[in-house]
Amino acid sequence: MNAIDIIIKKRDGNTLTKEEIEFFIDRFYKKEIKDYQMSAWLMASFIRGLSKEETQHLISAILATGKILEWDFQVIDKHSTGGVGDKLSLVVVPLLASLGFKVAKLSGRGLGHTGGTIDKLESIPGFRTNISLEKFKELVEKIGCSIISQTEDLVPVEKEIYSLRDVTGTVDSIPLITSSILSKKIAGGARTIIFDVKVGSGAFMKDIKDAEELTSWLIEIGKSFGRDVKAVISDMDQPLGFAVGNLLEVIEAIETLKCNGPRDLEELAIEIVGTVASKDLAREVLRNGSAFRKFNEMIEAQGGDISNLSPSAKIYNFSIQDSGYVERLDAYLIGESVRVLGAGRYRKEDTIDPNVGIVLKKKIGDYVEKGETILEVYYNSEDKLKDSIELIKEAISISKDEVKRRPLIYSVYS
Ligand code: URA
Repeated sequence: MNAIDIIIKKRDGNTLTKEEIEFFIDRFYKKEIKDYQMSAWLMASFIRGLSKEETQHLISAILATGKILEWDFQVIDKHSTGGVGDKLSLVVVPLLASLGFKVAKLSGRGLGHTGGTIDKLESIPGFRTNISLEKFKELVEKIGCSIISQTEDLVPVEKEIYSLRDVTGTVDSIPLITSSILSKKIAGGARTIIFDVKVGSGAFMKDIKDAEELTSWLIEIGKSFGRDVKAVISDMDQPLGFAVGNLLEVIEAIETLKCNGPRDLEELAIEIVGTVASKDLAREVLRNGSAFRKFNEMIEAQGGDISNLSPSAKIYNFSIQDSGYVERLDAYLIGESVRVLGAGRYRKEDTIDPNVGIVLKKKIGDYVEKGETILEVYYNSEDKLKDSIELIKEAISISKDEVKRRPLIYSVYS
């Protein structure tokens, strides 16, 4: 068996065996198969697809490179398939914990135009996402929640594959997304997993049919690994909430936990928690401050300090010379415009600027006056601002006629 034959077999549209997939992942993990060969294999798999069975083998092979966490109690996890302005985990995790669930969350960094929970959390001064597994277990047991990134012990190879997909145009594939997410979730030891499957321009699944297909893969394959799987399909045609960009999103999540957040963010957080608990109770722990207290406990325990969160960036007010109703606020282009500002990566080794991003002042269906600010751009480089504005111009369209607001939630699987 060798790497080239496996790449060629997939390139030609054939089905790989369990042994071939195991070999490929194991040798990549041991650095005997190189990044460029993995990239070629990812592209072949992206174009030719992987069957559900191949995807199961891929998950098992990824899991074999690390540990699977064992817990003495039932653990729950929540994961989004990726969106723009999607800071839900920062709200949902403490919400679940304040309802008595034990939440052990393994998260990723930004992928393509989408943001990642780890990048967001790392914009909090001092916050550590790479704590030891012992510490992680201790925090989940004591506080009820913790969020960490993939570690050297837990699905280490997934982290490598993920960062290659990010820069090789191989993200939006149902089998690759399924294996990436489920391997992390299974390694984290969660018995119950709640998926927030995003659909729309800013999601990897652009239409509802594909989002339903991805949901069915996540549920079916998740169940085949003995997990209880819940899911919500939600809109990602415009960004979620108002803030897009790492620190800006953390600030908005905190406001939401203090009940001053955007309505859509709060509503979706409650719906997600509602797949495993009573929505009324979820609203109560938000209103009475328990969820915010949990968030604080988790941040403090992981070394973070939220006492003085303020983005260090200049602000540009974006407006247009038309009045009317906002018809389009394309989440993909807004995500790209924020990546251009420095909030995301183009190469694996890029460092990100936590301070930059966008704060929307209007959402789809809102009325905007000629010259009124539609959004604020937080920037630290004039050149990047220029490129970002070009994308923002493309992202927005205004209609003279009233525009119907889009549904936020399409389906719930509980
Ligand atoms: N989130 C992940 O963790 N992996 C993907 O491939 C997409 C979204």
